[in-house]
Order: sequence, then C-alpha cells, then structure tokens
Amino acid sequence: MREYITSAFPELKKIKDDDLREKIVELWICAMEKGGWQSLEQIPFTLLIPDVKTSLVEHTRRVTNMAMAIADKRDDVDKDLIIAGAIAHDVGKLLEYELKEEKVRKSEYGRLVRHPISGACLAHQMNLPKEIVHIIAAHSKEGEAVKRSREAIIINHCDFIDFEIAKAKK
Ligand SMILES: [Fe+2]
Repeated sequence: MREYITSAFPELKKIKDDDLREKIVELWICAMEKGGWQSLEQIPFTLLIPDVKTSLVEHTRRVTNMAMAIADKRDDVDKDLIIAGAIAHDVGKLLEYELKEEKVRKSEYGRLVRHPISGACLAHQMNLPKEIVHIIAAHSKEGEAVKRSREAIIINHCDFIDFEIAKAKK
C-alpha cells in the first residue's frame, strides 16, 4: 500500500523531511482503509460538478504542482509544508464519499462532516504537524473563519483555480 501511495503521488519525493513525508503516506493509507477504498482511481475530484472527468489524484497533483510553482517564486513560505499540505488537502474526501453499487456518492458521514473537517481530524489523530492540520481545515470555505497561514493561502487559491476551471469547462 505504501508503494501504491508513493507512485500515485510522485511529488511526495520532493518533501525533504522524511518524517513528514512518511506521515502523509500513512494519512492516505489510513483514509483509504477508513473509507473502504480499494483504488484511488475510482474517486472523482468533486461531486459538485456532474460527470467531472478529473480524478481526485489528478486534481491533487495539479494543485500540488501549481502550489510548488508559486512557492518556487517566494522565499517566505515553507516548501515542505506547501507540498505536504497540498497532497493532504482533500484526503477527507475519502471519508466524505463512498462507493456504493459502483457509483460514488456522499457518505452518511460526509453529509454531516465535510472533507476539510474530516481530513483535518484524521491528520490531527495521526499526529501530523498543526500547520498541516490548518492547511487541510482552511483550504475551503471553512477557512474563512480563521487567519490562513501563507501556505494555506496558496493552497486555497490553487484549489479554487482548479475547481473553477473544471466548472467553466461544463
Ligand atoms: Fe481540492
């Protein structure tokens, strides 16, 4: 399973801190187990855009690469937090969604707890740094209630760029 996650997200290799990289891998493994997912390819990027063609892995990698490109142009952000936070930001969708009768739909848990919250709870449980818990919790509209870190600002914007472009294609 470890190899499966590392090959799904080649950007993991760019995280310099070994412990942080390992914890992000474990976070995805745990989310797959809790959500009952056999494969990541089954998971769409969003249920908010009907018949969206992009997978969650493609979206996550695109957001990670966009955020890394921005971080490369700045000297006031932590690049490890950018990469790790971007790879982790939507991990809660593995709990928000479920596969039922070969269709992905919102889970009962997901109807009550949106993915920024479930992802942040899982990251907290798994002892990820608070800065990563913050990025996950604040990457979407839930983050309007807190002061986002510089890394969270970048990931919030990259996420919405990808979402808005996917929506505009429809
Ligand atoms: Fe996202």
